[in-house]
Amino acid sequence: MESEIAGWLGVVFRFVHVLAAIMWVGNSLLFTWMELNLIAPKPADEPESNGLLGHLDMLHGGGVFHLEKRLIQPQAIPLPLHWFMWQSYTTWISGVLLLIVTFYPHSGAALLDAAKTTLSGPAAIGLSVGGILVWWLIYDLLWRTKLKDRPLLAAPLTLVLLLAAAWFYNQHFNGRALYLQIGAMMGSAMTANVFFHIIQNQRKFMVSLLAGSPHDLKYGKQAKLRSLHNHYMTFPVLFLMLSGHFPQLSSAGNRIAILCVLIVSLVTVKFLMNSRYYFRQWLVAIFGTFIAACAAIGCLLASPTAQSSTSDPAIQAGSRLFISQGCAACHQSGASQLAPNLQGVFNSRQILTDGSVVIADEAYLRQSIKQPQLQIVKGYAAAMPVLPLTDEQIDQLVAYVKSLK
Ligand code: HEC
Repeated sequence: MESEIAGWLGVVFRFVHVLAAIMWVGNSLLFTWMELNLIAPKPADEPESNGLLGHLDMLHGGGVFHLEKRLIQPQAIPLPLHWFMWQSYTTWISGVLLLIVTFYPHSGAALLDAAKTTLSGPAAIGLSVGGILVWWLIYDLLWRTKLKDRPLLAAPLTLVLLLAAAWFYNQHFNGRALYLQIGAMMGSAMTANVFFHIIQNQRKFMVSLLAGSPHDLKYGKQAKLRSLHNHYMTFPVLFLMLSGHFPQLSSAGNRIAILCVLIVSLVTVKFLMNSRYYFRQWLVAIFGTFIAACAAIGCLLASPTAQSSTSDPAIQAGSRLFISQGCAACHQSGASQLAPNLQGVFNSRQILTDGSVVIADEAYLRQSIKQPQLQIVKGYAAAMPVLPLTDEQIDQLVAYVKSLK
């Protein structure tokens, strides 16, 4: 019953999370796009004092949006004035709830990689929550220092610190939880940027405007820098949030290198998309980045360290089949609502839907793969497909499942 409720809440929170994120990311991309497409006023057009920064015309819905960006004059504060923050807050709140129902139940067992760590589940939850908080403090502090004016130094430093955190989590967490943890840290920093910088700074200059002072550019500049950070974090975070669907990446051995290629290439792609107004070869450069990133990740996946550390060829072959035949998509540790976690399943007691108890010996494992519908594990649907596997492949898969401790 408990897992059914968690499963259903997972559906609700995931849907709200996706909807809110689409609205937030959509806004972020559109605002940056408008910013880049503003046509600066000709000096003769408008007197400087009017504060016009640029204008833009956009065709939509059978008419033209004529848009102007200007500094606000204290004597003419427009009403109603729309603020944008709830898309971000809703994304974060639903994301936290989703994290709680998918990764934190069963005392956090879904976070851990039992083969690598002796950490307890509650300690893993502590590390996960703590990491989200500490990452925000580190990132925020770094970009409050003078380094914020030297993005070519500060951005790579931020990346190195993030990869160091990923390395740490990789000692304890399974692949699926690792990517999601990094995604959650970055995503939370994005919402914290909205909450602590963007909205606060806008509030500050609105307060000073209401008191009759002129529009203070300092606040807007700070808000805009964090907006830009959020803009560049969007693509990597979206990828990491979807990474649960990419078992090949989460079960790879050199996840930190993969993470590095992913973040760098996706930020580069976004940068190149924004550079199209002054860089003529932007499209070629995007294709180049895309192909280089695909090739680099392909090589990382194919390299020997990506495979399991065992030297037994049957287990190695089984490990490859487990991914190529799609077993990992359902069975990967962490995807426990879809299919049982196979870690430690060999020789364990299994309760079936008819209430009977069996020992998961070799014969049971073989039958579970060959004729999955015969014995259904309690709490799961008869959802496992019959795959066209040769006897040799089944032997290799059984050897691999047996090796999962
Ligand atoms: C579409 C999702 C899906 C895929 C793909 C899938 N399984 Fe399963 N598997 C399940 C579900 C659900 C169960 C639990 C119900 C049952 O016992 O059939 C299960 C049960 C099992 C069990 C028994 C586990 C236990 O705790 O007793 C084994 C072993 C197993 N699968 C191995 C594999 C292997 C190997 C592959 C790839 C060839 C694979 N599965 C592919 C969904 C899947």
